Amino acid sequence: MEQSKVKRFGILTSGGDAPGLNAAIRGVARTAMDEFGMEVIGIENGYRGLIEGKCRKLEPEDFSGILTRGGTILGTSREKPFKNYTIYENGKTAVDKIKENYKNWGLDALVILGGNGTNTTGWLLQQEGLNVVGLPKTIDNDLVMTDVTFGFHTAVSIATDAIDRIHTTAHSHNRIMIIEVMGHKAGWLALHAGVAGGGDVILIPEIPYKIESIAKHLEKRRDAGKEFSIVVVAEGALSEEEALMDKKTLKKNRLAMKHSIAYRVAEELEAATGLEARVTVLGYVQRGGIPVAQDRALATLFGTEAAHMLARGDFGKMVALQNGKVCGVPLEDIAKKIKKVPLDDQMVLAGREVGTCFGD
Ligand code: F6P
Repeated sequence: MEQSKVKRFGILTSGGDAPGLNAAIRGVARTAMDEFGMEVIGIENGYRGLIEGKCRKLEPEDFSGILTRGGTILGTSREKPFKNYTIYENGKTAVDKIKENYKNWGLDALVILGGNGTNTTGWLLQQEGLNVVGLPKTIDNDLVMTDVTFGFHTAVSIATDAIDRIHTTAHSHNRIMIIEVMGHKAGWLALHAGVAGGGDVILIPEIPYKIESIAKHLEKRRDAGKEFSIVVVAEGALSEEEALMDKKTLKKNRLAMKHSIAYRVAEELEAATGLEARVTVLGYVQRGGIPVAQDRALATLFGTEAAHMLARGDFGKMVALQNGKVCGVPLEDIAKKIKKVPLDDQMVLAGREVGTCFGD
């Protein structure tokens, strides 16, 4: 057994679930137990379990057969302890409760699996005196300082498969088919699935769109004898007018919309082109089911590295992939940041090369 700075640690998954979470949990736990003899405490439902004191000691059999399973065996929630203003017994805050449970459970460290919010909370807890190691999970791929997050490849693959299926019916009916994909405020998922699925138009938040530009592109296709078109829209896509709005006005504008963005784009395109448009919002199918091989392997790689970071006492960091190599990056540098698609991203350029319209 190798020497380890950590004897016992807690592990939790927080934020939206993503394919590969269980593979990552298994990677951390197997390495931590088998190589370093650590004890693993599974915390239920993200930070909520840490506040409410819901945890259990995990055993080797808990990690059997979970590599291929979607979701998370630990459960998750969108609990944000630093924004939870509940006053618990004896005037304690959510953060007080977390610190108390961490101490009472005899934890030397906490491993958190999540996206922006989760890792930002991780950084804040590190500043409160906890030892934190983060792992980059999200289908949105919007965490800074890592080439990629686990969950992304599976979501791209599911969205691409959906686009392929919709392609065939678009062809049969001569329609504009609009497919809305997730991604929050970043366009990675729409961009990669859109290019892989041969989208004629891809709309991402980073490139504000003009309906006239899209209409012109679709009409050009029609004049060339192509009677149908595939439009892939990121849920956070913005029109040129919206891109100029301040945060508050934009939020108000979006809340006033009855349906998601794809429906607005469909209405605007029907009006501008006279062509029939139909909408498919992919939603949660993008996060569900069996992770693809790439996510399983990546999550395992990240998980094993997290266990080594625990053993070295290398805290306050998130595991990341940089230029294909696994490493640790300071949580401080990740907190509150979003990785957006750069306008000169190679995938955007490749899309343009093959004739995709980005709405600009
Ligand atoms: O961050 C992952 C994500 O799936 C986003 O793509 C999406 O906007 C959001 O979560 C949906 O969140 P919820 O699960 O809270 O509905």
